[in-house]
Amino acid sequence: MIGIFDSGVGGLSVFREIRKLLPEEKYIYYSDNAHCPYGEKSVSYIIGRAREITSFLISKGAEIIVVACNTATAAAIATLRDEFPVRFIGMEPAVKPAVKSTRTGVVGVLATAGTLKADKYLNTREKFSEGIKIVEHIGEGFVEIVEKGCLTGNEAESIVISSLKPLLDEGADRIVLGCTHYPFLSSTIAKIAAELYPERDIEIIDPAPAVARHLMDIMKTEALIHNEGFSIELISSGDDTILKETFDRLQA
Ligand code: DGL
Repeated sequence: MIGIFDSGVGGLSVFREIRKLLPEEKYIYYSDNAHCPYGEKSVSYIIGRAREITSFLISKGAEIIVVACNTATAAAIATLRDEFPVRFIGMEPAVKPAVKSTRTGVVGVLATAGTLKADKYLNTREKFSEGIKIVEHIGEGFVEIVEKGCLTGNEAESIVISSLKPLLDEGADRIVLGCTHYPFLSSTIAKIAAELYPERDIEIIDPAPAVARHLMDIMKTEALIHNEGFSIELISSGDDTILKETFDRLQA
């Protein structure tokens, strides 16, 4: 069984990619929405949540765990790997492919405060920037609107524009989504980018497909692919309405 967790529904953007590659596995998904957002919380708080959720997922039968949250990966994955006997797959902002493909020489990264200040991200940026200018912005209010199911329309656009425009104004033509909630806003992000800079070939980069491939490779090597038919258990630490709605939307 594959365990997946996030501070909320964001990890479903990763699950969506995983399911394409591993359609006949059993899943358990934990949304920690009673404690969402993680973005501004302390590292020790997030480690505490990640430990508790991991113990729960393992008690339910998870054999491998996807930390489908950039903020929790940056804060807690090293501790989880030290303390638990299962494999963990984490998230990492896709700076490398963005640097390789940018034409303007400017890459924009949207992520939470926790991710942007973590050593894990700073090391990635240092390692892969290759002289390309990297500009960052917190996706202010993005997690909150996604948790409300508000993905398009005026409210979503006015929230997205305030964090996206500064990156585009700096010249970015690649926008790296460094938080798993943000892919649910992709169509709004693309719309605003096309309206503000219609001449620029702007691409939005989500690391989820690469994370799904990495998970599949590890599961093959460790003989963890069972192919016994799809099932998923959806669990929320708070109200589960948006989790169920978001999941249903993925099926449509
Ligand atoms: N999905 C989480 C991430 O990838 C959201 C963080 C939050 O709860 O602020 O970082």
